[in-house]
Amino acid sequence: MTLSPSAASSGRSSGQRPSGRRRARFSPFVRQVFLYLLGLIPAVSDIVRGEMNALGPNPVSFCLHDFGLWAFRFLLLSLAVSPLRRFARRDFMVYRRPLGLLAFTYAALHVVFYVGVTRHFDGRVLRGDFTTRPFLIFGMLTFLILLVLSLTSTRKAIMMLGRRWTRLHKLVYPAMCLACIHFALAFKTWHVEPFLYAALAAALLALRLVPRAEVRTS
Ligand code: HEM
Repeated sequence: MTLSPSAASSGRSSGQRPSGRRRARFSPFVRQVFLYLLGLIPAVSDIVRGEMNALGPNPVSFCLHDFGLWAFRFLLLSLAVSPLRRFARRDFMVYRRPLGLLAFTYAALHVVFYVGVTRHFDGRVLRGDFTTRPFLIFGMLTFLILLVLSLTSTRKAIMMLGRRWTRLHKLVYPAMCLACIHFALAFKTWHVEPFLYAALAAALLALRLVPRAEVRTS
């Protein structure tokens, strides 16, 4: 999901580029940290506005929904990195890890708000929820995959897993599909938003099916 072995090694090359291109001002690591911190702004803003009673009548529900949406958006963005490099020749590979970690961070905040703040870690209530609202199962599966992908995003894990790392990180595709189902079923009434997001996700996944040779000839 977040960091390919090649991206990991490019992380150490401190922005060295083929001749003719300008050297990046900041190292890849600094840019990754910067993007991650930038990505946390919506969370900080929600929490601060919540503390200031500026999130409407139900700030907890607002945060729960907003964190879920941001988790989804960052997951989409992390999936957009490879197609952008392949089809638009824009190389944002260095940003894939922070984008994936941001997806996980927002998913974790979303889950903490749901389990802790709205359900007060009450096992009985949670069991009831999970048996009567199947969309939660899809959310939980997505979250577990994001957790595994985040834990194995370190350079050490990449080295340890070797080839298996690439196979493991293909789990991001089922995670995206599960997140789409979770999103679509989360509403009791018809909403167009989940389907627009699902269309974007489907497009990003479909681009991966385009055979390599066709790209070279076009
Ligand atoms: C254990 C894991 C999860 C639980 C328990 C959970 C729980 C929930 C709940 C209770 C809602 C609100 C439904 C309502 O309004 O009644 C929701 C909505 C949502 N969740 Fe999750 N979720 C989980 C994981 C995830 C993950 C991993 C993602 C994204 C990658 C996600 C994205 C969303 C989105 C986009 C919404 C709709 C937000 C909106 O209102 O616009 N959820 N989830």
